[in-house]
Amino acid sequence: MTDHKGKLSPLLKQATGITAAKGEGAYIVDPEGRRYLDFTSGIGVTSTGHCHPKVVAAAQKQVATMIHAQATTVMNPRLPELAEKLGELTPDPLNAFFFSNAGTEVAEGAIRLVRQVTGRPNIIVFHGGFHGRTMGSLSLTTSSVGLRAGVSPMMGGVVVSPFPHAFHYGWSLDEATDFCLKELDRIFVTYSAPKETAAMLIEPVQGEGGYVPSNTRFMQGLRERCDKHGIMLVFDEVQAGFGRSGKFWAHDHFGVTPDAIMIAKGLASGFPISALAASEETMAKGWPGSQGGTYGGNAVSAAAAIATIDVIREEGLVENAERMGKRLRDNLHTLKKDYPDMADVRGMGLMLGVEMRRGDCPDGDRAAGILKECEKRGLLMLRCGPYGEIVRWLPPLIVTQAQIDEATGIFEEALKATA
Ligand SMILES: Cc1ncc(COP(=O)(O)O)c(C=O)c1O
Repeated sequence: MTDHKGKLSPLLKQATGITAAKGEGAYIVDPEGRRYLDFTSGIGVTSTGHCHPKVVAAAQKQVATMIHAQATTVMNPRLPELAEKLGELTPDPLNAFFFSNAGTEVAEGAIRLVRQVTGRPNIIVFHGGFHGRTMGSLSLTTSSVGLRAGVSPMMGGVVVSPFPHAFHYGWSLDEATDFCLKELDRIFVTYSAPKETAAMLIEPVQGEGGYVPSNTRFMQGLRERCDKHGIMLVFDEVQAGFGRSGKFWAHDHFGVTPDAIMIAKGLASGFPISALAASEETMAKGWPGSQGGTYGGNAVSAAAAIATIDVIREEGLVENAERMGKRLRDNLHTLKKDYPDMADVRGMGLMLGVEMRRGDCPDGDRAAGILKECEKRGLLMLRCGPYGEIVRWLPPLIVTQAQIDEATGIFEEALKATA
């Protein structure tokens, strides 16, 4: 007999066995009251921690006032307020913002904008990048075949160039950077002529692909080529931005200004909202009315985003991410001396990855085992990388030194338990 009760789709795959009944700062509490140190931050989202009182208060006030001020129908007063605040954080002249809900929507928005602005079809992306799961953004994504499997063909006009992942190639950073810039130049004469190339779109620190930072010379190389050929440079700061890298934007580490920035995740501490930033001049070259969606720029999410920015500034959370990131990195480097299977420790600020290997082989099973052992001991973590071989560290920006030390202690126990 058919059971008529609705169920969650088996398509939903969860990394932990935990039910999150409540969230408090860096902790998730399950229905039995067990507390878990949350070093996933809901995949890099709960920047101010779970349910920060100022974010909660701003959202509650907005809920009682106006929930759905549909942005293409009426003006939602929270949006110009949020744009004004964001404009203080983005580099000049990127002070115009188009709001939507998720990271993937900003990627779709960026595809539309760069094609409309330049009148050119092609977009160069970098191998290992992740930009979302809708068909446009997925076409830009090359972090894992698992995401692309079974849904091809992809959108055309996407060209993939290598990313300077020195550890992967087994080269020095200079060698990897030289190779990648050389291949990029080859693309212009073999695949996508500059006059057919609308944009280069890149994560300053690759996230899902394996927590791999770019570097100054590579980013400058992209900027030079974009300037020379009238190509737009777009930075996907969805995961690495909003303070997580130890500077407000991850690209601040490289001293290169893009033509557009993709913003989401940490922007509103868990409320769905995202933004595409560009100069007013660039935005004016896009086609009005071509961007939008029913829920984009929701008033409650916007109020939470404004409160999130205030909290990040008042509590010095970018500086905390820098300090705590250093502590975490030092702890992991100390452990690496005793545990050679920790083949590489890399990333920036509070976005660090530990690549697990057995001999020369990426060891996804070991990383999975470590996560299970951490969960048993009250620490939640995620994996990434094409083989699931990277244990990723994504604590909230409010994390304390005691919590970092506790988490790395648990990680060491998990290393021993899975040896
Ligand atoms: C760098 C990057 N870009 C885009 C996205 C897509 O964001 P969303 O899952 O909100 O669509 C993600 C999500 O993990 C991301 O890490």
